[in-house]
Amino acid sequence: MELINRILSEMTLEEKVGQLNLVTAGQAVTGPVANGDMTENIRAGFVGGVFNLWGRDAVRAAQKLAVEESRLSVPLFFGLDVLHGHRTIFPVPLAEAGAFDVELWGRTARAAAVEAAADGIDLTFAPMLDVARDPRWGRIVEAPGEDPLVAAEFAAAKVKGFQGEGLSAQGSIAATAKHFVGGGAALAGREYAAADISERTLHEVYLPPFAAAVAAGCAAIMPAFNSVAGVPMTAHAELLRGYLRTRLAFEGVIISDYTAVPELVQHGVAADLVEAAALALKAGIDVDMVSGAYLHGLPQALERGLIEETDIDAAVRRVLTLKRNLGLFENPYRRLDASEAATCDHGALALEAARRSITLLTNRDILPLPADVRRIAVVGPLADARAEMLGPWYAAGRAESCVTILEGLRAALPAREIRHHPGVAIEGDDCSGVDAACALCATVDAVVLCVGESAGMSGEAASRASPGLPGRQREFAEAILATGAPVIAVLSSGRPLIASWLIERARATLATWLLGDMAGKAVADVLTGRFNPTARLAATWPREVGQIPIFYATRSSGRPPDAGNPFTSRYLDIPTEPLFPFGHGLSYAQVQLYNLRTNVERFEIRDDAELEVRVDVANRGTIATEETVFLFVRDPVASVARPAMELKAWAKSFLDAGAAKTTVFTLSIESFSFPGKNMQRRCEPGAFEILVGLNADPKTLRSIRVEAVPTPNPQA
Ligand code: BGC
Repeated sequence: MELINRILSEMTLEEKVGQLNLVTAGQAVTGPVANGDMTENIRAGFVGGVFNLWGRDAVRAAQKLAVEESRLSVPLFFGLDVLHGHRTIFPVPLAEAGAFDVELWGRTARAAAVEAAADGIDLTFAPMLDVARDPRWGRIVEAPGEDPLVAAEFAAAKVKGFQGEGLSAQGSIAATAKHFVGGGAALAGREYAAADISERTLHEVYLPPFAAAVAAGCAAIMPAFNSVAGVPMTAHAELLRGYLRTRLAFEGVIISDYTAVPELVQHGVAADLVEAAALALKAGIDVDMVSGAYLHGLPQALERGLIEETDIDAAVRRVLTLKRNLGLFENPYRRLDASEAATCDHGALALEAARRSITLLTNRDILPLPADVRRIAVVGPLADARAEMLGPWYAAGRAESCVTILEGLRAALPAREIRHHPGVAIEGDDCSGVDAACALCATVDAVVLCVGESAGMSGEAASRASPGLPGRQREFAEAILATGAPVIAVLSSGRPLIASWLIERARATLATWLLGDMAGKAVADVLTGRFNPTARLAATWPREVGQIPIFYATRSSGRPPDAGNPFTSRYLDIPTEPLFPFGHGLSYAQVQLYNLRTNVERFEIRDDAELEVRVDVANRGTIATEETVFLFVRDPVASVARPAMELKAWAKSFLDAGAAKTTVFTLSIESFSFPGKNMQRRCEPGAFEILVGLNADPKTLRSIRVEAVPTPNPQA
């Protein structure tokens, strides 16, 4: 603290607000504004951190300016959006979430941190933890899906992976949990739109992943662009100061999103830049990303009496503490001096992660590809689309490093005849290639139809009102289906695609999302059976746009859907059920669950209550398999209507062909509680249903009841 106090006491007001100023170097542009003269501002002490700049020489040069040429020699920190890999690109988060593997989530974050640190990066703007239940919203691709427990586990794994043994440890970078909060609830799935979320849903669904990130020691948090119930998150004192700082005791740095501070004017809660800066600072935002609103606005806000200098000091102290924790005062070049990354090759991890992120949606007796399939047509605009495999956030990743689906299949099946035609482009109206592609398909034993979205069609500012196949791909796919050749649909996308017409007619469908460097190799491994698919959907897959938002944990209705009764909660024109439920995903084995049991029928409501649930899992197939067993809890009668069911745990079962094993879950009182008064969690007495199965389809779940009873009163 002494060092920080000393620096603070020597700083002019301009140098203080300089520490709160995060500028972009423009190597990657994520918003509309690029920064002015960064060099002069660094020398003058008007810059606290730089983002979108990486690489040893570039970072060293910028750091040198701060350390050797600014008056107080305060080092800069360097940030970047390292979401799913830095140089080695792993699957997009929505895909990786489907691995349901906490350990894998941590390992890919660790690898990304090591690579990013070696490129001079101190801090990543990740993990992204928005619970996402609307496939129209392009940022669903960056998110760990629809479920708060999955997002919370993902949060902890990623934070620990990025931050390693400590912020100053070799290969560690600071994590920034974002976007706090509710971006996934944007009105009609439209990017940056307002969200209106009840306090209950905030506490049940949207806040828990951030609480998990804070508990894991997350160094920074980024508020969301959107407003929640009329209050822009950049000015949301109740959630930033009240919830994060007071209730969660979060002591790290709060970094605004890109130009979000001046956007308070457009939101309609600040009259000018000065008021916007004052509102944001007062609400708890320490660092202003890009806009210069703090640099130019805070001194005037001080003059107008809107803030006090102690508000500024508190924010500066947090930024300096972050820099100290990152080890930057000790050695501002510490990450650049480390050599760990130079010797690391994360290709094997990228392949493992990519394989484990592929969801086999349907399979009507065609996969794995049988030996008598000698001639294969690999068609469609995503078959040989190297750059698209990277996904929308690829940091320092390079298209040249990606293996395409066509390349993967050719390498995996050298003795078979593989023909290729793109047919159509991802977007646009040109159908001139359709006939040639169809002609190719007429002469083969199987068609691998690679369709979907480009990388830029999901991610930030990529909402789609009709999230189906873009351009002329539907016509193209219909023409291929009409040839009568057996079609295996391979969907590359950043979201569940609305393509029921295709999925229902194809012999098999794989959701391959955007898998990163090893995309093609991993897809080939699944198609050929070298890898028995393991991923499960982290987000419900709708059959129609009109079902969105869609998720399994909906609250009941007084009139639950009943096909035989028109006056129930249903649609006239389509079923209420999704095409695939949360947790869906096939393997090449057949697995059965049976004999669900608990060690007790009733438990006392106590903090240390523990309940064991067991279920037997048998592999009736002829291939070893990894299955994910999900456990949900339903509270049928409570003081507040509870969701139909909530995920409380999942477990992996590794089974050889013909083998059976018992899966054991240990539940705590937490699994039976929900936010009561003041949004503090509580467990109410009464019956609970425990539901266990391979996905969230209620028809397939096994269930058992337990009862929670009050603890006997010792005075009674
Ligand atoms: C995005 C953030 C990102 C930031 C910096 C913004 O536009 O919303 O997620 O971290 O840009 O690139």
